Amino acid sequence: VSLSRFNDLAELEPEQVDALIQLAQRLERSPEPHALTGKVLALFFLSPSLRTLTSFQAGMSRLGGGSFVVSPDQNIHRLETRRGVVMDGDAVEHIREALPVLCSYADAIGIRSFAPRKDLDADVADRDFQALLELCPVPTINMESAILHPTQSLADWKTMDELTIPRKGGKLVLSWAYHPKPLPLAVGASTLTMAAMRGMDVTVLRPEGFELPEPVMAKARGLAARSGGSVSETDDRRAALEGAHVVYAKSWSSTRHYGDDEADRELRSSLEPWRVDESWFESATFRCRFMHCLPVRRGVVVTEDVLEGGRSAVLAQARNRMWGQMAVLHELMGTD
Ligand code: CP
Repeated sequence: VSLSRFNDLAELEPEQVDALIQLAQRLERSPEPHALTGKVLALFFLSPSLRTLTSFQAGMSRLGGGSFVVSPDQNIHRLETRRGVVMDGDAVEHIREALPVLCSYADAIGIRSFAPRKDLDADVADRDFQALLELCPVPTINMESAILHPTQSLADWKTMDELTIPRKGGKLVLSWAYHPKPLPLAVGASTLTMAAMRGMDVTVLRPEGFELPEPVMAKARGLAARSGGSVSETDDRRAALEGAHVVYAKSWSSTRHYGDDEADRELRSSLEPWRVDESWFESATFRCRFMHCLPVRRGVVVTEDVLEGGRSAVLAQARNRMWGQMAVLHELMGTD
């Protein structure tokens, strides 16, 4: 796979994703501790992380390269991100200088942004994130933006392969789950794209007011049409879960009240029963798996017994972040 950036799994063909997974498996079996000797990865975080931060650092080390992390939590200058402002407040450095400077020290850069959650169209188009990418003269990796989380989806693809979840005829239910706060759309949208690309039958299970944006659904329908899968949407839990091979839970913001946190809170206040528990799996396949990208709130999004039970794939998903990302780094920065 020849990569110049890793931004959206849908920018690749399914065969290219499979090739990345095969490379990830090869690196897992046969370490290549010198593949990226002398290479440096910059990791720029505008929002918090546990898995993404550490799995990229560990992956770079295993390939013989180095990495450095920059985030606002560190003692860096306060950054301005808006265009056209007079910087006479707290911010002393603009991201339009900061990002090119970081890139000048590195062979590639990973960026994690945050969803502004003010304008749904802007977030669906990933407008702010794309503007950041334009500032980077080296290969870029999307470590989560307003609408994409491709390294999570790559790890989830690998995890489902390992669990022998069927592609054609495999049913993945992407279910909204209760959470006290409005969260970004990125994981829900990326999971839908990924499962559609795999040729699975994907059902988006969500309460009214939490529909995924139509452009996201349309993109998934197009990918499913090419791969032989299907995409549907419902708020009927019993019908959705019938025959499921995977329940992938994730909370996201109300799209009806996008950017209006008070209205969102009001809408979700009665939705606490949208917590995954064992009863959700009664009409699913016997070996139906539970997936979640983590971090997850126990007893809120999912019960402890499901999270720690035999169905749960969450730790495998997190472990596969590192192997999948190593394949991406190998293809972005490797010399052979
Ligand atoms: N799933 C995921 O991206 O985890 P972090 O937010 O901890 O990186």
